Amino acid sequence: MTAHLSAPSLDLLAEQITALLKEPSTGHGLARTLRAAAKEIEISRYHHTSSRAWPNGRIDITPEKVQIGGGAHRIDGFYNIDAVPPADLLWDVREGIPLEDGSVQVMFSEHFLEHIDYPNSAKHYAREAHRVLAPGGRLVTGVPDAGFVLRHYPDNPSLSEEMIERWYAKRDCRGDINTFLDLINYVFRDQDDDPTYTPHLWAYDRVKLTQMFTEAGFRIVEPWDFDSAIANPKRQWGSVYVIATK
Ligand SMILES: C[S@@+](CC[C@H](N)C(=O)[O-])C[C@H]1O[C@@H](n2cnc3c(N)ncnc32)[C@H](O)[C@@H]1O
Repeated sequence: MTAHLSAPSLDLLAEQITALLKEPSTGHGLARTLRAAAKEIEISRYHHTSSRAWPNGRIDITPEKVQIGGGAHRIDGFYNIDAVPPADLLWDVREGIPLEDGSVQVMFSEHFLEHIDYPNSAKHYAREAHRVLAPGGRLVTGVPDAGFVLRHYPDNPSLSEEMIERWYAKRDCRGDINTFLDLINYVFRDQDDDPTYTPHLWAYDRVKLTQMFTEAGFRIVEPWDFDSAIANPKRQWGSVYVIATK
């Protein structure tokens, strides 16, 4: 028999984590793990609130255009699904996409896929995207381009300066992230100990994206021409986008 944590015990766990994080005796390693657990608890709470409203895992509207993991970047005419606010629906897509089979025309995500675990959640997401898309429907996916960073290692200090400026301009980490190798670490893990940012769990290039979506059943996977009417303009540089057709 499987034991499930009930919502009240999840609340208790969250309280205990908060208390432990305030304890001076909680070491750095344990604190890292507790912060990660606290984030998962937050996602789980939002997800369970939504899934109580739709216990069969399908919402009762059928949007034709859907953005996954858009964060604060909203796209006109797209229904936004994200694990945390702001979004039209708070849903942890590692648990599936709560839409009907063959109901979506266009699905879009950028800088989302690298935040879920590979292979389990990433491949599940690809299969779910394929399931909810209509025949001929298209899935656009953009991620930080690991190939771009690796191709330029170890040289190219001016490119390294540009990357640091573009990717880290708003972050207080320049004292630590300032070489090309640090940027390679960015595509593989980002700042996994920063409460503001969620870590990168897997690195992708065009080949990897193409393989994954082909394996999920998509007929064609091609490069996508960046369109700032849909995509976040700040993501264009150093990212790779593909469009997969069902
Ligand atoms: C780095 S942000 C990218 C936001 C936006 N796409 C952009 O490019 O500015 C990653 C987004 O993915 C969302 N996300 C991460 N894991 C998720 C999950 N399991 N289910 C749904 N959304 C998730 C996060 O909440 C966040 O909004």
